[in-house]
Amino acid sequence: MKQVLIIGSGLSGLSCAIKLAESGITCTIVSPYPSERAQSVMAAGGINASLQEDDSFELHASDTIKNGGNIAGEKEVKGLCSNATNIVKWLEGLGVVFSRENSGEVSLRAFGGQSKNRTAYAGASTGKQIMTALIRETRKYEEREVIKRLLGRHFHSALIKDGKCYGVALYNEKERKLETVFADAVVIATGGQNLLFGKTTGSTLCDGYAVAKLYEQGARLKNLEFIQYHPTTVETPQKRMLISEAARGEGGRLYYLENGERVYFMEERYGKNGNLMPRDVVSKCIYDAPSQVYLDISFLGEKIIKTRLFEVAEICRKYAGIDVYKESIPVYPSVHFFMGGLYVNYNHKTSIDNLYAVGESASMYHGANRLGGNSLLSAIYSGKVAADSIASLPKISVRPDFSKYLLEQEKILEERLLSRSCFSAVYIRHEIAKTMNDCLGITRSESKLIEGIKSIDYYLSISDKLVFDSDVSVYIGYSLRPMLILARAILTSALARKETRGAHIREDYPETSKEYQLSSVCDYCNGEYRVSYQREGE
Ligand code: FUM
Repeated sequence: MKQVLIIGSGLSGLSCAIKLAESGITCTIVSPYPSERAQSVMAAGGINASLQEDDSFELHASDTIKNGGNIAGEKEVKGLCSNATNIVKWLEGLGVVFSRENSGEVSLRAFGGQSKNRTAYAGASTGKQIMTALIRETRKYEEREVIKRLLGRHFHSALIKDGKCYGVALYNEKERKLETVFADAVVIATGGQNLLFGKTTGSTLCDGYAVAKLYEQGARLKNLEFIQYHPTTVETPQKRMLISEAARGEGGRLYYLENGERVYFMEERYGKNGNLMPRDVVSKCIYDAPSQVYLDISFLGEKIIKTRLFEVAEICRKYAGIDVYKESIPVYPSVHFFMGGLYVNYNHKTSIDNLYAVGESASMYHGANRLGGNSLLSAIYSGKVAADSIASLPKISVRPDFSKYLLEQEKILEERLLSRSCFSAVYIRHEIAKTMNDCLGITRSESKLIEGIKSIDYYLSISDKLVFDSDVSVYIGYSLRPMLILARAILTSALARKETRGAHIREDYPETSKEYQLSSVCDYCNGEYRVSYQREGE
């Protein structure tokens, strides 16, 4: 029987697993933690679908492409948007209770950069409800052993020979040893690269390691320079808490104070829907504002806040001591989403045969700037697309021998990680985050990017010689070098794109250039980072 391995247990991984199971294909979901801890659970805003009568998937697709900086592939985005309605129905069938109007229609809220209301939501906890439904569905297949789970395992590396993937090496945290699992296809569903930036709106469990390691092993990456700053977050000691775009979708207004008077700068600049401009635009305007920016939802009244924005009210109360019924919220843009990731084709196959990538770990539909509500959609859709493609793959009959590779890797772990002398890997992680935040902020410049590259290059130059503190985590130690390589690739991609597009705003190249209306592709070859450009679909 065909065997598929899914690395990651969030929304895109579960969607892929369920679709495979529906086709009778066995798969194993591998993750360090259970699905309940996946970042997808945190998604608050909603999922886009052109359910409104005067809307269409073509309009959804054109908003997605246009506000994503006109580089995403039309065929791919149309595939995403034309499947959105069925995905919402599928979720309802699995028990997700979307909020509805008195008329019985699914409620749809306005989200940034969309010409129609098309964001469906389940109260204030859409991600949690969707994940609960998918976890329940997965369990049905787990009982029949069509879906299996391997918990407590970290991805270590892929078993690749001559451009084809045959399985993975996993690090078993409890046993403190490497394990090999062979498969006919491997799906990477590990989410974005949050940890590279330290504090973001997302989960620090999304560290980008699998993407980084695969890059080091020869997989291509795409559009790394496009990193989305969500305009409205509140700062807490541990992370940036998201103030959902839903707050502005329901009518919330951004302003700053000038001589004691409120300046509704987004509305002044872009008209009555100014607060709902795409995220790249709003974040830049907040960044440029002469003083602290606030979000006011108090005037919406208790009923709307309690029924539609309860989560926002709770976050502000718990983490910032703000009573949104009476006070405005001081907001800051923070890193939220990575448009870049593993290079995949229409079927979500990476540049390595039999290796797939889905969800935020892949770069596909969002171009240079993702629209709110398209993330849950693309996570589910990409999982299904990959599963369909895997269903038609032949079973692998002959496997190369990887025993030498594995022995070598085990030796490296023993030598460098099981020693008692120590160098804090956590310290270097902090240094990476500091560099990334300093050099890849809302605006970038050549001098800053070069500074960032120098700093990462320094840590890379010593990374092979370090013996890490094994008391923290073996995984933290071995993940460090690939993560430095990924950080370097992101900085290199940002330096190469000499224009401003979507979330990539260059102070020194403020114009959008026709020449760069392309996706960037970054290859790693013998320690060199090569950036080239490509039109989607070519
Ligand atoms: O603002 C939000 O609720 C975020 C939604 C999203 O990123 O899709």
